[in-house]
Amino acid sequence: MIIARSVSELRKALDIKGGSIGFVPTMGALHIGHRTLIDAARKANDMVVVSIFVNPTQFLPGEDLSKYPRREEADFKICELSGVDILFYPDVSAMYGEDEVRICAPDVRGFILEGASRPGHFDGVLTVVMKLFNIVRPTRAYFGKKDAQQLALITQMVNNFFMDIEIVPMETVRESDGLALSSRNVYLNAQERQEALKLSSALKKATEIVMQGNTKSDYIKARMEETLLPLDVEYVAIVNRAFESLDEVVIGDTIVLVAARVGSTRLIDNVWM
Ligand code: PAJ
Repeated sequence: MIIARSVSELRKALDIKGGSIGFVPTMGALHIGHRTLIDAARKANDMVVVSIFVNPTQFLPGEDLSKYPRREEADFKICELSGVDILFYPDVSAMYGEDEVRICAPDVRGFILEGASRPGHFDGVLTVVMKLFNIVRPTRAYFGKKDAQQLALITQMVNNFFMDIEIVPMETVRESDGLALSSRNVYLNAQERQEALKLSSALKKATEIVMQGNTKSDYIKARMEETLLPLDVEYVAIVNRAFESLDEVVIGDTIVLVAARVGSTRLIDNVWM
């Protein structure tokens, strides 16, 4: 595995081998969720590139940028053992200069839900993903459905800017008790980890209600909110794949989302129906 720390090192490494490139952008602290993205990239492409970069522009003031988990040695090993060809591991100065051009998230879809709770977050995500796409020039890029709005906005950016990259959505990987894997789960103590299960329980509840034939969003959201008690809920939402609010679940075109704080840790989860 080649470790490239600058854009020129990455370009040199990419030149060695031709063929299709599968790309998995991450912020590190890799877990099995990231692994499934890497494995899918490995299966479908001649070369796999993973980036690990804790992108400062997608963190708001007061968020967890400085304490975001960093696990260089373990992450390198995971990548190597997963058959990654090139690991792109830049520092901030390799990625950003002064007074730069930025990508703006769309006015509506970029500023609801996650974008309302974290205004400016998606500008940072789209800007860094645009940079990474231009550096790596992947054939396919892999993103988790766990970050559903991020996935939708990156797909939209690729369409809006006529970029020739296939975005591959990947299912959310969970612990056996339902908790969605997340790099931020390391912040949870034993009691909080137990409370965090309320997010997946609320989504399970939503699925059960729909399976029983009740598709009314208001009803489903109210039952979910009961399940989430006493967590500090930021939002419960039922939207279509274009992130437009739905009064009723439409099977095949619905995402049910939840964001809540468990202690001081902010967690998100969703289910696609
Ligand atoms: P990060 O949180 O490290 O996630 C990297 C990728 O892994 C994202 O596409 C995310 O959706 C996916 N992922 C996270 N948890 C998952 C799970 N439990 N199952 C399946 N996939 C999962 O998302 C980011 O980094 C950043 O915003 C990034 C896109 C790299 C831009 O900085």
